[in-house]
Amino acid sequence: MPRKPLALPRLNRQSRVPLQDQLAIQLKQAIQSGTLKAGESLPSSRDLASELGVSRNTAIAACDRLLGEGYVESEPRSGIRVSREFKPAEFRPALAKFPPHAIARKPAFSTRLDGPRPFRPCQPDVKLFPLALWNRLRNQATRRLGEGLLHYQSRHALGLPVLRRELAGYLGASRGVRCEWEQIAITTGSQQALYLLSQLLLKPGARVFQEDPGYPGARRAFQSSGARLKGLAVDIEGAIPSPHPRPAALVYCTPSRQFPTGATMPVARRMALLEFARRCNAWLVEDDYDSEFRYAGPPLPCLQSLDPAGRVIHIGSMSKTLIPSLRIGYVVLPKELVEPFELLRLVADDHGPLIDQAALAAFVSTGGFYSHIRRCRKSYAAKLACFLEATKTHDLPLDFPFPDGGMNQTGYFREPVGSVTSLALELEREGLDVPTTASYLINARRKIRPALVFGFSAFDPAEIRRGIALTARAIQAVRAKTPVR
Ligand SMILES: Cc1ncc(COP(=O)(O)O)c(C=O)c1O
Repeated sequence: MPRKPLALPRLNRQSRVPLQDQLAIQLKQAIQSGTLKAGESLPSSRDLASELGVSRNTAIAACDRLLGEGYVESEPRSGIRVSREFKPAEFRPALAKFPPHAIARKPAFSTRLDGPRPFRPCQPDVKLFPLALWNRLRNQATRRLGEGLLHYQSRHALGLPVLRRELAGYLGASRGVRCEWEQIAITTGSQQALYLLSQLLLKPGARVFQEDPGYPGARRAFQSSGARLKGLAVDIEGAIPSPHPRPAALVYCTPSRQFPTGATMPVARRMALLEFARRCNAWLVEDDYDSEFRYAGPPLPCLQSLDPAGRVIHIGSMSKTLIPSLRIGYVVLPKELVEPFELLRLVADDHGPLIDQAALAAFVSTGGFYSHIRRCRKSYAAKLACFLEATKTHDLPLDFPFPDGGMNQTGYFREPVGSVTSLALELEREGLDVPTTASYLINARRKIRPALVFGFSAFDPAEIRRGIALTARAIQAVRAKTPVR
């Protein structure tokens, strides 16, 4: 077979990988992918060396390697060619039954470490985090606990006991959670808790009830186990228990502040939801992701505290109270789930990073955690006031029915303004990030009142005012394009 011009391998002379290895790898890839076909001639080592500007020895070494591995064969006088035996493998990786690309979307790649744009929901103000103190606590912990903090610690798959004890105290006092410290597992964010629970509790096809609209992180975790999601409609009291309970594996909800609407579930509805879960014979996962941020009135007792039967699994996160990149969350497990959860955690990643866990334990025990939450609460309350003021100043045609807490405000349109999805896209063009409540629907055909979700906690007053001014302009622009009926 005559030799067609070879697309020359690109060699990186700055790389630590030797040139001969780079050359051999790229030629192998060309053969494996079928770019170089069986029987096709390769340039002689002399030509390769001169075309690539490498020494002849480099080219010979690369070719010898291909010969040794059977990718190419050499014939007297006709040089080397791709082995006629070689069949490029049709490599089709067998994906799991519930392939990830059907469940999640990959964010656009960037080497930058960006922060959120206004008004991305559920983002803490990371500038408030006492980083210097945190680093001191980490140093003190490594000095105090010594090398043990650096080794594998599979015995602590559920987290450092000292932190689990501190959290049991905190959750008992602040949320009314009733548990022994041994029931608390520290996870890599609450997302890992959701994922492990779905692995533990859901068989393919299992029915899961979830608020609709609801939290996509939970939805994806349940879908990854092949669960069938059934939406529960949401009103101003949060999830509405279906009048037709059916056997289900799990019910997931955010009673402290329904995500994304912001509704707080009153006690009577909480009791009804517990009864619903009982009649479905389901576990009830309570995601308590931002209950610390309540600006008016005391928090309501968490579902876990209202459930003597022990079917509630209470999940929380340090992503909102501290910073998301710590990736620390926790789950309060019913006693019978503690051991299975621990075994599964050993399979997943053995255990979480322990230095930050030790620092967090000290942060809670010395009271720094509580003062930090008070500081954030004060700052977020001021930002919320600024946000609501700006919406009035710019006369946004939106109602914000739950201004009592949280990190987000959901604004419901008083009257139709055309397509809310087009509006969200227009806002994106203005550099803002304001999702619609409809983007959180499980059942895209469910009819809900058009609304936008504004996170306010991470942004400075000037950013908030500017963002609201842009939002007002975008709403006007979309309105102007909407034909009057
Ligand atoms: C409803 C809900 N649960 C949990 C989380 C926190 O997830 P993680 O602890 O994995 O950061 C979020 C974050 O946005 C959320 O909105």
